[in-house]
Amino acid sequence: MANDVTNNLNNLNLEKCDSAGKEDDEDIVNPWNVVSKSETGVDYDKLIRRFGSSKIDDELIARFEKITGRPAHHFLRRGIFFSHRDMHQLLNLYEAGKPFYLYTGRGPSSKAMHLGHLVPFIFTKWLQDVFNVPLVIQLTDDEKFLWKDLKLEEAISLAFENAKDIIACGFDEKNTFIFSDLTFVGQCPEFYQNVVRIEKSVTFNQVKGIFGFGDSDVIGKISFPAFQAAPAFSTSFPFIFGKSKLPCLIPCAIDQDPYFRMTRDVAPRLGYNKPALLHSVFFPALQGAQTKMSASDSNTSIFLTDTPKMIKNKVNKHAFSGGQATVEEHREKGGNCDIDISYQYLRFFLDDDEKLKKIREDYTSGAMLTGELKKELIDVLQTLVAEHQARRAQITDEVVHRFMALHPLVTKSAT
Ligand code: TRP
Repeated sequence: MANDVTNNLNNLNLEKCDSAGKEDDEDIVNPWNVVSKSETGVDYDKLIRRFGSSKIDDELIARFEKITGRPAHHFLRRGIFFSHRDMHQLLNLYEAGKPFYLYTGRGPSSKAMHLGHLVPFIFTKWLQDVFNVPLVIQLTDDEKFLWKDLKLEEAISLAFENAKDIIACGFDEKNTFIFSDLTFVGQCPEFYQNVVRIEKSVTFNQVKGIFGFGDSDVIGKISFPAFQAAPAFSTSFPFIFGKSKLPCLIPCAIDQDPYFRMTRDVAPRLGYNKPALLHSVFFPALQGAQTKMSASDSNTSIFLTDTPKMIKNKVNKHAFSGGQATVEEHREKGGNCDIDISYQYLRFFLDDDEKLKKIREDYTSGAMLTGELKKELIDVLQTLVAEHQARRAQITDEVVHRFMALHPLVTKSAT
């Protein structure tokens, strides 16, 4: 079904969209499927043009640094968060003293989260720290129940378990509210009221255009986008924002953009600002950048539960190499960092710019061998995963309940 998504766009007044002008050789990028034919992965510049978003350029990065007084996160400097919508407007408002809030989320489809799942949360945590703003995190257990072969009780308990990994990223309880849809709808009428407002503003024809739904899709799927849209409106959280309408910033992987094109389309009609967005690239599978990682094939990724030994074996055995076939050939021709997964993973997780630059130079020239590059990655990942595991071990059920309790956050206006 997902392949049809982009061919179906007969949509009315939504922002410029994926399917417009899509040709057969283009990458497939939608919430259910990411496929690229190129070894270097999705062509993100093309995607920006197709989606009609804007590139995160040096000027915007400089603005981040000026306003926050902090160096930009390496995800920004290295183009891992590469695209945005309306960031300048949001920062204009922020500079004029109008606070915003952050909204991100996760679909809890499996107990084991992998490295790629951390990317949006690591970045969101940084945004929360540098802007000192409240954050809401949606766990779409309803979505995963509707799309996957999961019992309702399983989806609910996966949301709870995933919340522990998310909290282990270091979020501040006083400024973070985590909720699961299946529970929150029954706790907060204002959230469901916004859902229904959105449901009344979008026709079947429109969601068909955006998401490719068809006649045999269950009706839960057709209404689900309204549930992912509603947290972008601050009145969905009266215990945090009262009745104030705060601007919203959503960091997410770019495959989630269709949901927020829809959200941005309905926002003005419901009297809200359009949410601003920061889009990330996809985290590549160990086997190469052609696909997203699969939670069901444990060899395509490093899980947050992997032991140091598993990390070492997976990297050595499965990480796609951009090196040459023999040592002699490698010394002579050098390796290709753009397709080498060990190098690509270091771009995400080695924050030392100098060291990364040196590795790139040495690997490209052939001075560094694939085994040596892999060793660098193994060290970085073993440390990262061990530290995550240590933090997660501290997160009891009690802690999760505190994050998920309907509690006020430290909004700027309140301080
Ligand atoms: N649909 C997302 C997923 O499957 C989860 C999600 C809900 C989300 N709200 C979000 C992701 C907001 C990013 C931002 O993972």
